[in-house]
Amino acid sequence: MARKGVDFLVVNTAEEAAQEAAARLAAVAGGGQIALAGGSTPRRAYQIAAERRSDWGGAEVWWGDERCVPPDDERSNYRMTHEALLARLEVQPRVVHRIRGELAPAEAADDYARELGDRALDLVLLGLGPDGHTASLFPNSPALEERERTVVAAEPGREPLVPRVTLTIPALARARIVLFLVDGGDKAAAVARAFGDAEPSADTPASLVRGGETLAILDEAAASQLS
Ligand code: 6PG
Repeated sequence: MARKGVDFLVVNTAEEAAQEAAARLAAVAGGGQIALAGGSTPRRAYQIAAERRSDWGGAEVWWGDERCVPPDDERSNYRMTHEALLARLEVQPRVVHRIRGELAPAEAADDYARELGDRALDLVLLGLGPDGHTASLFPNSPALEERERTVVAAEPGREPLVPRVTLTIPALARARIVLFLVDGGDKAAAVARAFGDAEPSADTPASLVRGGETLAILDEAAASQLS
């Protein structure tokens, strides 16, 4: 079903949601520009994607956001995606565009923006927080007002409370496909605010994020408050 520019795929369990997201990641990994999400939800999808396609030589890999910590820090999105995906591949992506979290936030953001240039990414995987944040775009934060820059430094709106680097709404809007992967009843209210009939609002940053196509893969619990 589609609503307000969002297509939904509702499945029974988080495992099925991970399988569906992994299939789409693996398909684009045959030759595309893919931005990965951090947090915990995508971990299983990455593991399955690596099983489905072990050769990512045709892909360039990016991240939607990063915590400003070194890449081997347990809070690093790069570290999580390296463990769950990259380390499991037989052929690495052609280029891995790591956000250099070890730099000062503004420097890391400028460095990443230079690397991204005016590329339109083929697929951007995003998660959703219970407060409706996505990437490191937090409710009512200054980053939501950015209309020119593609990458900015952002103050954390949730644990871990370290500065962040995040793609901006205009950068995400250029993506051919924005794919949200959300599971769990604790996200149900945020899902309804982000993808339901309510007006888009800075209170719920994910309601402001749409790509060329926008698909939300949800388990039943996460979709339970969608009317
Ligand atoms: C991060 C992510 C963030 C995440 C959501 C959901 O750096 O943490 O970019 O936006 O996707 O907070 O996190 P969970 O998947 O852990 O619920």
